[in-house]
Amino acid sequence: MSSSTGPILAGPGLAGSGIPAEGTAPGQPKATRKLLIRTWGCQMNVYDSGRMADILAPLGYAPTERPEEADMVILNTCHIREKASEKVFSDLGRLRETKKERAAEGRQTIIAVAGCVAQAEGAEITTRAPWVDIVLGPQTYHRLPEMVARASRAAGAVIETDFPAEDKFDHLPEVRAPQGPVAFLTIQEGCDKFCSFCVVPYTRGAEFSRPAAAIIAEARQLASNGAREIALLGQNVNAWAGDSPDGKNWRLARLLRELAEIPGVARLRYTTSHPRDMDDDLIAAHGEIPSLMPYLHLPVQSGSDKVLVAMNRGHKADLYFRLADRLREARPDLALTSDFIVGHPGETPADFDATMKLVERVGFAGAYSFKYSARPGTPAASQPFTVAETDKDSRLQTLQALLRQQQDDFNRACVGRVVDVLITGTGRHPGQVAGRSPWLQPVHASGAAPVGAVVPMKLQAANPNSLSATFLPENPTSDPLAHEESAAA
Ligand code: SAH
Ligand code: SF4
Ligand code: F3S
Repeated sequence: MSSSTGPILAGPGLAGSGIPAEGTAPGQPKATRKLLIRTWGCQMNVYDSGRMADILAPLGYAPTERPEEADMVILNTCHIREKASEKVFSDLGRLRETKKERAAEGRQTIIAVAGCVAQAEGAEITTRAPWVDIVLGPQTYHRLPEMVARASRAAGAVIETDFPAEDKFDHLPEVRAPQGPVAFLTIQEGCDKFCSFCVVPYTRGAEFSRPAAAIIAEARQLASNGAREIALLGQNVNAWAGDSPDGKNWRLARLLRELAEIPGVARLRYTTSHPRDMDDDLIAAHGEIPSLMPYLHLPVQSGSDKVLVAMNRGHKADLYFRLADRLREARPDLALTSDFIVGHPGETPADFDATMKLVERVGFAGAYSFKYSARPGTPAASQPFTVAETDKDSRLQTLQALLRQQQDDFNRACVGRVVDVLITGTGRHPGQVAGRSPWLQPVHASGAAPVGAVVPMKLQAANPNSLSATFLPENPTSDPLAHEESAAA
């Protein structure tokens, strides 16, 4: 069991396909085929799914949500916990039937498995599911058109899971389909930290930082396509250290200062960060860059120093306390969110108490918490002293009750404040707009405003999963940089 208790959209879970619902981007050929992409896992997979759609658009593939009309299906998978991996195979079972039915009507269906399960299991996937045509690891997406051509001709499956020397980003199309007011931008990939429990260093490979110039160019393009909020992504995003246009090497804070200057970019975020890479300049940036949102997802995993050592996290609880204090000094309204694992091998009741104490002391606006899941090939999977499933269950419940309480307290404390809300679309009820607060809380209000506008609103009530708000009486509901279309009526 895993659970999100945060107002955050961050972190693992079933994500949207990351591709726009309809239409073909300007300059693209007429769509003649349909593409369905299903995405699990972190936002980096969401970004990758969008990029795979971009790369297939010139081949005439337009998005669909319906498997029966899809000429190609890509499952973009996550390997982080056992349950996440297993979902892929149940989906593949259903797709086998769809593929058969389509074949009976003389229509070909290409089935591709991408992402971290593809990287970890490679050809094993086609042994278990021989109806899969393509298996491609996260570093090979730019070769997708060639793989599709081979799969259409070939009798056997196409498998590409090496970490090629060339940079996939250099080979992806420069033009991205419009993302709407909120866009993801991957700036860093991979991980060199090798936490005991984690598959990411094996599925995503070594840390790699994209050069600043490429990131700035992509951010400009996103902004000119209507993005107002850009979330920079990386498995270890604050470890980013990239070549800069002035021939130097920048760290993340410097890059953020540069991106904040791009016209139209009203909000910046970055995720996911590691406590060890929270450098002084980055902490200071939270107090100095107005468009850097007062929100930070900083996973700590455990509050016990003994477990943190066993996890190979490379920091103690005390570093986390100091970081939380310094960040809040720089930005007093900063919302901190985190990830936790209960039941890592060797975790005793006293270790778990230390986690509870850390949560009490820091106070989180939300968090993801998980039961430890042994992953093949990771060091923790072969450690002795495993924790009983029943103990994991009860610890998770206890932890989640506290985190839920803290999240509710945080949301309630926001009521009565006037905050900027980024309008993202229409609300669930007629005549409502939906948006997000600086702390990533979903907000809804009665009234109308253009999608992409940043509108000051008064927060009126905290509901379990969102905040309700009202427009201010003197509120200007137009924003020169917002989209033409208007949300609600
Ligand atoms: N790079 C991020 C985390 C990426 S994985 C970081 O360093 O924090 C997202 C979250 O999944 C992790 O923070 C961790 O809480 C959880 N996770 C990773 N491996 C896991 C495992 N084997 N069992 C349970 N949870 C796990
Ligand atoms: Fe996994 Fe640790 Fe790397 Fe995060 S820092 S991706 S938890 S190995
Ligand atoms: Fe999952 Fe891979 Fe992301 S394992 S969390 S999709 S990096």
